[in-house]
Amino acid sequence: MLEIIQLSPKTDNGYFVVKYIKKVLKSPVFWIVIVYTIFLAYSTHIEDPKEIPYPIAQINFKTSRKYISSNYAASSRLGNHLFELASVLSISRDLNRVPIFFIEDCYHEKMWEDTNNLIPGLMNQFLVINGSVPRAIRRTSFHEKCCTFDNPSVLKENKDEYLHLKGTHYQSWKYFSQMRNELLGFLKTPVNNFFYLPVSSESTFVTCVHIRRGDFLRVGFHVAGEHFIKSSMDFVQNQEGRSRKHMATVFFGDDFSFMDSLRNRTVYNTQDAFVSQNSPSDDLLYSKANCDVVIITAAHSTFGWWMGYLSKGNTVYYTDIKYTKDYILETGEFTSEDYYPPHWTPLKYAGSNNLTVTRSFN
Ligand SMILES: *[C@@H]1O[C@H](CO)[C@@H](O)[C@H](O)[C@H]1NC(C)=O
Ligand SMILES: *[C@@H]1O[C@H](CO)[C@@H](O)[C@H](O)[C@H]1NC(C)=O
Ligand SMILES: *[C@@H]1O[C@H](CO)[C@@H](O)[C@H](O)[C@H]1NC(C)=O
Repeated sequence: MLEIIQLSPKTDNGYFVVKYIKKVLKSPVFWIVIVYTIFLAYSTHIEDPKEIPYPIAQINFKTSRKYISSNYAASSRLGNHLFELASVLSISRDLNRVPIFFIEDCYHEKMWEDTNNLIPGLMNQFLVINGSVPRAIRRTSFHEKCCTFDNPSVLKENKDEYLHLKGTHYQSWKYFSQMRNELLGFLKTPVNNFFYLPVSSESTFVTCVHIRRGDFLRVGFHVAGEHFIKSSMDFVQNQEGRSRKHMATVFFGDDFSFMDSLRNRTVYNTQDAFVSQNSPSDDLLYSKANCDVVIITAAHSTFGWWMGYLSKGNTVYYTDIKYTKDYILETGEFTSEDYYPPHWTPLKYAGSNNLTVTRSFN
């Protein structure tokens, strides 16, 4: 390219231009520059260094067993990891296959670590192999919509020794409907007593309110407003826990100043209301031991979902997504009956000009 620029005084003569173009095209340097430019453009376009694949996994073929593995949305967070791993484990049992977790890149490595840190018993069910899925393994389409159940029995016909599913997210309780107790047992034993947070007991009833805001506000996922949250808490309080002497409320989420001011404005006696400052993993362990009821305010927070699913009381209220403008509804990938367990209670405003939260019936 430099050569061409230096040539410019002579370019009034067409002959020279043609001759030089020919010469340039023959030059290996020219082609190296082109290839390198394309490579750079390509790599700066896709490369998040955490997505650079690890070397191909070394595995044996023609063994006496059959295996199953899946694609994962590994860069997502804990709530997503739990859906994916619980579902793939359960599917592996339906199909009588050994579940494999391939550590395909840095995100998978983090997913493996974070999951192990919360629920080691779940990860222990997998054969963990450090490396990318070998090309020789065929990719099979399954579960193509994030939040709609596909019946795994369609995979029974598949005879591949290594069945690798292309799906991600697996956000449906139906995949692991029989596994709640087992999953609770897989959780690690907490190393602390959650310090300042209240303990659920015969005399103390703990209401846990999960509020996801942060990134949800930016990406178009539903976020409940303060009035809706307050009114939901009133509704739930009327339904639950009147038999116990003390009522305590704990707020969980990612926006501490919002929760702090909400706490001061919604709970009459703020002595009995708390904002958790624990890690996400400890919040889930706390829920297992102490949440008598859980209110999920951001309709499609998978973390809120797991707080509810693993909670002590197994009594859950959630914002009915049908009455929100959540972006996932437009994708057509979300099926309410598949996502929310049937014994959970959906909430909505009583009417367009009645801002009292009540049970949603349809
Ligand atoms: C997996 O392999 C990568 C390199 O390929 C290495 O950096 C990483 O530490 C390994 N992880 C585990 C858990 O062995
Ligand atoms: C909430 O109340 C506590 C004391 O009860 C106070 O320390 C805190 O600053 C208040 N927070 C807000 C956001 O008003
Ligand atoms: C608003 O809805 C609630 C719950 O259904 C009901 O109890 C209340 O009477 C309604 N208020 C008005 C003003 O209609």
